Amino acid sequence: MFRTKSVEQSLRDTEDPEFALKKSLSALDLTVFGVGVIIGTGIFVLTGKVARDTAGPATALAFVVAGVVCALAALCYAEFASTVPVAGSAYTFSYASLGELPAWIIGWDLVLELALGSAVVAVGWSGYLRSLLDTAGFHLPAALSGTHDGTFGFDLLACLLVLALTGILVAGMKLSSLITNVIVAIKVTVVLIVIVVGAFFIKGANYHPFVPPAKSTSGDSGLQAPLVQLIFGYTPTDFGVLGVFTAAAVVFFAFIGFDIVATAAEETRNPQRDVPRGILGSLIICTVLYVAVSLVVTGMQKYTALTVDAPLADAFKAVGHPFWAGLISFGAAVGLTSVCMILLLGQTRVFFAMSRDGLLPRTFSRVHPRFGTPYRSTLLLGSIVAAVAGFTSIDELASLVNIGTLFAFVVVAIGVVLLRRQRPDLPRSFRTPLVPFVPIASVLASLWLMLNLPAETWLRFGIWMLVGVAVYLLYGRGHSRLGRSR
Ligand code: ALA
Repeated sequence: MFRTKSVEQSLRDTEDPEFALKKSLSALDLTVFGVGVIIGTGIFVLTGKVARDTAGPATALAFVVAGVVCALAALCYAEFASTVPVAGSAYTFSYASLGELPAWIIGWDLVLELALGSAVVAVGWSGYLRSLLDTAGFHLPAALSGTHDGTFGFDLLACLLVLALTGILVAGMKLSSLITNVIVAIKVTVVLIVIVVGAFFIKGANYHPFVPPAKSTSGDSGLQAPLVQLIFGYTPTDFGVLGVFTAAAVVFFAFIGFDIVATAAEETRNPQRDVPRGILGSLIICTVLYVAVSLVVTGMQKYTALTVDAPLADAFKAVGHPFWAGLISFGAAVGLTSVCMILLLGQTRVFFAMSRDGLLPRTFSRVHPRFGTPYRSTLLLGSIVAAVAGFTSIDELASLVNIGTLFAFVVVAIGVVLLRRQRPDLPRSFRTPLVPFVPIASVLASLWLMLNLPAETWLRFGIWMLVGVAVYLLYGRGHSRLGRSR
């Protein structure tokens, strides 16, 4: 269970033409790719809810906290990605350092981040599109408008989006990266419009109090409270200093994606140099934008007045500028498509890598003879994600996505330290600074955010992971290519 797959072996596997992906991406492609998946539902949708319910104007601080946690993790991801440039991200890294079972656990865990994340974003996208359609006078029946406030409705638009993106991914990387570039340009422009235009409407009074005083949570009891508050016996509260951390654990979602740049390492022309650049570059750009957006939005409107569905657009409506509001909604709807697509792409690549290693049926890792894409795993996963997006709501899933991602960060940081010990000889074009301090800080920071998630989320996470271990024992352990070659 703790057999490791050597780095050389991982690299050799990518050279087998029947299972090899095409190398076509540069550092700029990766940065665009990163920004394309990072800016999404987090900033466009969650900011409003978090500012209103958990942190007020201090949401900007929550973004800083989450950004720092991600920066620490990024330094670890970058070393791993530049050492083991093979599809599969944290999964591959763990296989090389920690062993097969931990790698499987991570691969299984990444489903939470990637497949569920992509479903969450599809649902957020569908909300924006419906709001645009409503403005234009088209109203979808409630039964096809998604699940809200406890009433079930199939989310038709979210489901259709995922199916369409699946088709694009099957047709190949080149097409999808062209589309991504256009979408990213629109999205970043809209975010800049929010910052620059919105700055003219800031009222200083809205920043008082910047950190609203703590108040005990009314609805949240028991399992809905952050685990850390339950463990230490606090009365669960919103706002105040603790609220900033609770908020950070939620807006962390807005940063998810920089790690996915690492999953494209195998498709990068010069991974040793370009992957670290792509990861750190996209992370820095996004952190700056998020802090600016959240400061502007909470300055335009009193935090208590922010809306939860389309807070950025609604802030402009509130100051009497429906034109900007419409433009922002349009940009958000366009922008979220790329996030959804790249998360789905990341999921298919992790699945591909696990199947290539025999931990999942090998048939899923055959690449398409013409398109050079892992079309079987793409079709399978696309259909599952489309169904999940159709049947669930954002709130239920977003914190599960966060806990899964943070758990992967913990494992990667530990992996960096272990791989330095086990294989000091490997060439590393990017080295995490101050090892082991940065990885240790990364582990602690990620754990801290995890503890700020609701107890309920921990419970769901635990169940998912137990199911994963059972699947490994029943299938993966016996079918592993590494196990059979011994
Ligand atoms: N970071 C991505 C988003 O905010 C997943 O939607």
